[in-house]
Amino acid sequence: MEEQVKKKVILSGIQPTGVFTLGNYIGAVQNWGKMQEEFECAYFIADLHSLTVRQDPSVLKKRALDAFALLLACGIDPEKSLVFIQSHVNTHAELGWLLSCYTQFGELSRMTQFKDKSAAHADNINAGLFTYPVLMAADILLYQADMVPVGADQKQHLEFTRDIATRFNNIYGNVFKIPEPYISKSGARIMSLQDPLKKMSKSDANLNGFVSILDEPNVIMNKFKRAVTDSETEVVFREGKDGINNLMTIYSCMTGLTMEQIEKDFEGKGYGDFKIAVGESVVEKLRPIRENFDRLSKDKKYLEECYTKGAELAQRVSSRTLNKAKKKVGLLVK
Ligand code: TYM
Repeated sequence: MEEQVKKKVILSGIQPTGVFTLGNYIGAVQNWGKMQEEFECAYFIADLHSLTVRQDPSVLKKRALDAFALLLACGIDPEKSLVFIQSHVNTHAELGWLLSCYTQFGELSRMTQFKDKSAAHADNINAGLFTYPVLMAADILLYQADMVPVGADQKQHLEFTRDIATRFNNIYGNVFKIPEPYISKSGARIMSLQDPLKKMSKSDANLNGFVSILDEPNVIMNKFKRAVTDSETEVVFREGKDGINNLMTIYSCMTGLTMEQIEKDFEGKGYGDFKIAVGESVVEKLRPIRENFDRLSKDKKYLEECYTKGAELAQRVSSRTLNKAKKKVGLLVK
């Protein structure tokens, strides 16, 4: 991250609000691992973002460390990528404040995630929930990211980030790189196994709706066996077959098979066989992650070393952008 290399810069983050779901993995984290071979990557645990919903302090602390270990267990290599915990790097909140002074009330009011979350937490519609996209813009712009690999639900936040960066650059010159969202064609929106019209989410009250990437094999198999489909029998990807489309997408992301290949393989077989095959492909994909996590989460010293090193480098890299922005707006930088 430090030397002036030409590789494109990739940045993304994930909240530590629970064990990552299969949706998080397919939509985001799986791609992050692949990208670190080719690009200059930075990945972080977005713990500050989690505070927008009331958290139990001791649980949040444990989840942040577990989420960090999970990132490594999913193949994010601290020797190749910059990996850190957001609250360890104070530039994020500071640039967030600066950018909030260049953000309009109206544009934040239009954010669908704000509308959804304020409906879900009507008793706690705090200012942080409202300005959440500004902090996210700061996360991205601080590292001059070229590309941000995310699931489809983050697209609007990325558009907002581009708007705010463009606005700032139009006033002060070239301060921020304008980032591109990287949203894969398949798997950018994995749906609930119980309600295929709803996004798979770790906060789903129905535990059968989501697969957590640390679920035991028998739990995973049971969730797939119970997955909601339709009253037909054909395994084909077609409009209106939301449950089957979702299972086919998951299977395709796990095995690399195309939809046509899957349709051919399951011709004449029923949904029962197909659900078992999807479940088994997920179990096999997640097995090494669970094993890595078991090992890593015990090694607190190693984790501490990694996040400390990550925070130091992230602080150095991001301070350059922050100082540039501060000077531009007229703050007296010491
Ligand atoms: P979070 O923690 O909700 O989700 C992390 C990533 O997982 C993706 N994702 C999904 N992809 C496919 N199908 C699903 N069902 C699914 N559910 C979640 C999300 O799109 C995301 O990419 N605001 C962010 C965290 C963040 C961030 C950032 C991301 C903070 N600062 C800067 C990128 C850049 C969030 O809440 O993600």
